[in-house]
Amino acid sequence: MRSFLVAVLFAPLLVAAVAVDTEGPTSTKIALGRRADSTLPFNVAHPGTTPAFIRPAVAKLLPVKQVAGLLSATTTQVDSLLARTAADLLTTTNSVVGGLTNTVNNLLCGLLGCVTIPKTPTVPTTPVSGPACLDSTYNDTVISSLFNYGGAGTTVFLCPGAVINLQNAIWMYWPNQTLTTGTGVLGAIIGDNRATLVVQGSSQSVALYSSDPGRDGATVKNLIVNGNRSGLGWLSTGGALLEMGGTNSGQTVTNVKAYEPRGWSALHMIEGNGLSCTGAVVTNNQIGPAGHAPSGAQQFRRKRDTGTYAPGQWADGISLACRNSVVTGNTITDATDGGIVVFQSPGSTISGNTIIADQRQLLGGINAVDYYPYGGPYTNTQIINNNIVSKSSMIKIGMAVGTLSWGSYNSTDYRTSAGTYSNNIFSSGNDGYFGFGVTVAGITGGIVQGNTFVGANFGGVLTGACILPIPTFGPLYQNPYTTPSTTLQSSFVDGGAFQFAICTGPGDQIITGLSQLA
Ligand SMILES: *[C@@H]1O[C@H](CO)[C@@H](O)[C@H](O)[C@H]1NC(C)=O
Ligand SMILES: *[C@@H]1O[C@H](CO)[C@@H](O)[C@H](O)[C@H]1NC(C)=O
Ligand SMILES: *[C@@H]1O[C@H](CO)[C@@H](O)[C@H](O)[C@H]1NC(C)=O
Ligand SMILES: *[C@@H]1O[C@H](CO)[C@@H](O)[C@H](O)[C@H]1NC(C)=O
Repeated sequence: MRSFLVAVLFAPLLVAAVAVDTEGPTSTKIALGRRADSTLPFNVAHPGTTPAFIRPAVAKLLPVKQVAGLLSATTTQVDSLLARTAADLLTTTNSVVGGLTNTVNNLLCGLLGCVTIPKTPTVPTTPVSGPACLDSTYNDTVISSLFNYGGAGTTVFLCPGAVINLQNAIWMYWPNQTLTTGTGVLGAIIGDNRATLVVQGSSQSVALYSSDPGRDGATVKNLIVNGNRSGLGWLSTGGALLEMGGTNSGQTVTNVKAYEPRGWSALHMIEGNGLSCTGAVVTNNQIGPAGHAPSGAQQFRRKRDTGTYAPGQWADGISLACRNSVVTGNTITDATDGGIVVFQSPGSTISGNTIIADQRQLLGGINAVDYYPYGGPYTNTQIINNNIVSKSSMIKIGMAVGTLSWGSYNSTDYRTSAGTYSNNIFSSGNDGYFGFGVTVAGITGGIVQGNTFVGANFGGVLTGACILPIPTFGPLYQNPYTTPSTTLQSSFVDGGAFQFAICTGPGDQIITGLSQLA
């Protein structure tokens, strides 16, 4: 017996600063409780309260009989409900013995989950003939149902090149479930012909959801996931395209192309109940584009913005809030909020990733600026050996470290702490530039060393949202007043008591082709 109505009390997440309703930097009007993520990051960042995590709509499940014939496109245990039902159906079809057992009739499935039926002695003796993978005629309902009835360890195979339209998020239900492209139990993917999931639901932003308790080891690999923001538009309260992590360990995303999320992030590893998420692995994915940056120097002044896109539509590439995780070998192109946002995630390693701002302006390449949900500690979190490339657009801050890099709520109670932010490489294309390479402001402890610049450009303009002083555009700045016990490479420059370094807007390059070793 299993209820799917598990209480989910995720601690709220801040993508960065809480947005405030303000026309200028001097306003103190703070809108508490505003959804913090996609309406960020207007001036003045009080941490405030944040809204509860909104789960995607519960999957509508089909009766097990209706999907049992697709057993062949999965791996399941022979005693899973799916396998037993398939066996029953086979018996019914092939022999005079049997008939549909009461097991099927006794099954009660719905929004409250399924009542477990008694095990029958029937196990498949002949393989069920069926497709080796799901082609484009199948949908989220079928896939969620296969995960629901397939039990722990079930892999569902999508056919190479299949395009699966989704009206609702695909839900996973049990430990060690995998969604991938491949053909049957052999699981081979033919060439680089990954299946594509496409968001089609009018109020849908999430393509896959595996964050509820009981989903250790959930894996998504060898897929393309199209969030379809271009067709369906931005969803202001939408969750991330892949909502994973949660009250679980060892969830994995690998070789997935995820782009154009309607909500605030392409991939979110949420922290789970009681910050219990641990051991997520995010490797070798291609993420982005994600979100839209409003154009124009006034982009933080919501009411005066003249950009093509209204402000608030930024999105992250990867949003990591799961401790002891590994994020490596990913390429994030044209995210607009943070390429990789690290919500402390103590014990995690973020290394060997490439973040590129090509056609869309990016606020932060790698962000280590959030106080929530862990309350600041980047203990044993390492952000090392990443490449951050402002190829043809502005990146306001290549790597933003500490709460005051991103906001202006200046309290010693609201600082990040610890972490290693080292040996990252910053470079630019001809038309691309950084506002700042690395800013360190609002952090206690931490090590920032060995970061290098290779042909990096810097520039921009200050906007009316800026609170002076803001240092001159350039590679490495520290706010010495808010960074006690921090160990910095010697090339850091004292930027004064600066804050909210993403207040800048696009403008001329003032430094070009800077190459600077640590
Ligand atoms: C998804 O597929 C199932 C099974 O074929 C079907 O009953 C259902 O109507 C489909 N849903 C949509 C939205 O097409
Ligand atoms: C899931 O996989 C892990 C690692 O292989 C294994 O230790 C664990 O027992 C599996 N859990 C279930 C419920 O199958
Ligand atoms: C995106 O959504 C639009 C509007 O619903 C739809 O017409 C289009 O088919 C979707 N995009 C893709 C790639 O399917
Ligand atoms: C923040 O507070 C510190 C004292 O804790 C002060 O020295 C500094 O000037 C303040 N402002 C900024 C932007 O650092």
